[in-house]
Amino acid sequence: MADEHPLTALEEVETDLRLSRAGRRRSQARNITEGAPREGVAIFRPVENAVLVALHRTGHSAHDVDASLDELELLVDTAGSQVVGRVVQKRDNPDVATFIGRGKVAELKEVAGSLSADAVIFDDELSPAQQRNLEEKLGVKVLDRTIVILDIFAQHAASREGKAQVELAQLSYLLPRLRGWGQALSRQAGGRVAGGAGIGTRGPGETQLEVDRRKINRRITKLRAELRESAKTRRLKTKDRERHDVATVALVGYTNAGKSTLMNRLTGASVLVADQLFATLDTTARRLELPDSQQVVLTDTVGFVNKLPTQLVEAFKSTLEDTLRADLLLHVVDASHPEAEAQVLAVDRVLAEIGADAMRRLLVLNKGDAADADELAGLRRQWGDAVVVSALTGQGTERLLGRLAELLPASRRVVEALVPYERAELVAAAHRGGEVLKEEHRPEGTFVVASVDRSTGEALSRFASVDPWADDRKVAGA
Ligand code: GTP
Repeated sequence: MADEHPLTALEEVETDLRLSRAGRRRSQARNITEGAPREGVAIFRPVENAVLVALHRTGHSAHDVDASLDELELLVDTAGSQVVGRVVQKRDNPDVATFIGRGKVAELKEVAGSLSADAVIFDDELSPAQQRNLEEKLGVKVLDRTIVILDIFAQHAASREGKAQVELAQLSYLLPRLRGWGQALSRQAGGRVAGGAGIGTRGPGETQLEVDRRKINRRITKLRAELRESAKTRRLKTKDRERHDVATVALVGYTNAGKSTLMNRLTGASVLVADQLFATLDTTARRLELPDSQQVVLTDTVGFVNKLPTQLVEAFKSTLEDTLRADLLLHVVDASHPEAEAQVLAVDRVLAEIGADAMRRLLVLNKGDAADADELAGLRRQWGDAVVVSALTGQGTERLLGRLAELLPASRRVVEALVPYERAELVAAAHRGGEVLKEEHRPEGTFVVASVDRSTGEALSRFASVDPWADDRKVAGA
């Protein structure tokens, strides 16, 4: 029985366990407001007070290190624990055995002791061996950014698929680390995964660790199969949309950028909005009508974050791959955030990781109401095509809808143009805002045949033999 349902025995216990007292209070509040019970493997607990640890590498400013630690602190807070101190070491390469140097380990031990910390949390993912060694030397729980993010995801997953994805990511992280957390975790995971005790489940000559490993592997296989099924169902829905020729726009962006708020603002839907990292985890899809009466589907996906754990990207692959099928990505940025630019780049990195870097996208500089005017001007200079909006006040959303109508395939037309080399930016715009069907380098310039939106088309029309929007203009002028 326990073998067939390896996780059920401790599941009831797990749902009742919380990160810490503070976490318990917050989780209960969340449960009341969002009805999302905590699920998954609770590794990141019971942490009360944590000291954060980071390396300051050459080429990075002290500001970069601080910004990353500020974010980690916010993540730890979202997970329900509090940060009591920070330790930074100037060092280029992590120590193979202990990540930070030996002297620094001693200092960290002292700091953790004097602040009564019960955990230290590293800003980078530790190897299983580093985690094990550090735990031995420090005598407190040793965690990393990855596990904190996984824990937040576990708290926020609401759908069956979301929960399965998070659990898969957690188990993939846990598997090579079973020994890392020594007896405590082995018992905990073993208890959960081994269906309670392990007594009687142990084969001759097998250690508890091997039993746990086998069970985790079995559970991973089961979760993967379950996720394959969910992906199939979702794909059918997507196919249905494609058959009906409905364009899809996917919202992507850093966590807390305002994706859900924008979705609500544009579609009138009520998607959970919270000033919290990763409040939305499950994909939602809503219908949206554009000013040209075109109907499109707008989807909201999981928020991204710096150093998004690879296990999560892997586990969420099918959800993220849905993003790849969209006709356009709306990349939402919190323009009021001091790290807005770095956040854009972090999202771009994840998009590249899932193969979405070549997709057409429109950058939306959100929170225009709260952004500093100079900062906003800087961002606009950098991303000329970006649209500034405030999802909160609605400012700029009309323009955004107009841009969407222009960019989506229904309003694209094919232009043939011979673009002089000194106007190469127009060819780049055609690549960004449309689909280049042919590109030839001729003595007079670049000959392109491209399916483009109206504003790109108008820019190209000076060099085009035929202006595909000429008829529209005649009608408008008549
Ligand atoms: P994740 O679920 O973490 O991915 O977040 P999200 O991108 O869906 O962000 P969400 O819409 O939940 O908004 C995060 C916070 O930003 C909330 O407190 C919103 O009220 C706030 N917010 C969103 N848009 C705006 C805006 O235009 N202006 C201001 N001032 N705040 C905004």
